[in-house]
Amino acid sequence: MMHVIETGSLTLEPQTAAHAEEMFAVLSDPAIYEHENEPPPTLEWLRARFAQLESRRSANRQEQWLNWVIRLPGSELIGYVQATIDPTGRAAIAYELSSAYWGRGLARQAVQAMISELVQRYQVHQLTAIFKRKNLRSMRLLERLGFSPASPEQHMKHQVEPGERLMQREER
Ligand SMILES: CC(C)(COP(=O)(O)OP(=O)(O)OC[C@H]1O[C@@H](n2cnc3c(N)ncnc32)[C@H](O)[C@@H]1OP(=O)(O)O)[C@@H](O)C(=O)NCCC(=O)NCCS
Repeated sequence: MMHVIETGSLTLEPQTAAHAEEMFAVLSDPAIYEHENEPPPTLEWLRARFAQLESRRSANRQEQWLNWVIRLPGSELIGYVQATIDPTGRAAIAYELSSAYWGRGLARQAVQAMISELVQRYQVHQLTAIFKRKNLRSMRLLERLGFSPASPEQHMKHQVEPGERLMQREER
């Protein structure tokens, strides 16, 4: 069972279908998609997607798929963090924050809190993140979190596309 994570000024709630309505508004912010992806097409689509993700597993059951939504204290949702954990304890992470809240260190707080949870409760020992080279905000965030650029061999192994970069962080 996933846990609620409390950190400095944020609460990370395990994402459920009940979050869909509030998250649809958050995820409709066009600024989030400057570099990749696109907003959810409809609220119904997002609700179905979130319901599916409540299994916390990939379709082949091999990976754990963990999603938390980010809440300001006693107030609205501002984004999400997520991790895909393989059976050997490697986690690929991703994150999105409503642009109204960028530049305040909130993404850093939320992602660091998730990383601590992954290490403590899910035996994660390596973290990776793939992002578009032009996404400097994402790169700066990863640098602040102690991630380093991965080797060319790692890029090949993870099938990183030419316009993308892979960064990683080892836990011990
Ligand atoms: C990537 C993303 C989450 C980064 O958000 P962010 O707000 O820039 O990240 P942080 O929370 O770490 O905030 C950092 C900024 O706040 C500033 N800041 C202010 N107070 C701070 C504090 N107490 N602690 C840390 N940083 C603080 C930092 O100086 C930094 O400013 P800078 O970007 O000018 O250097 C956000 O841009 C986003 O959601 N992008 C769209 C989705 C996306 O691209 N996701 C990644 C796909 S891989």
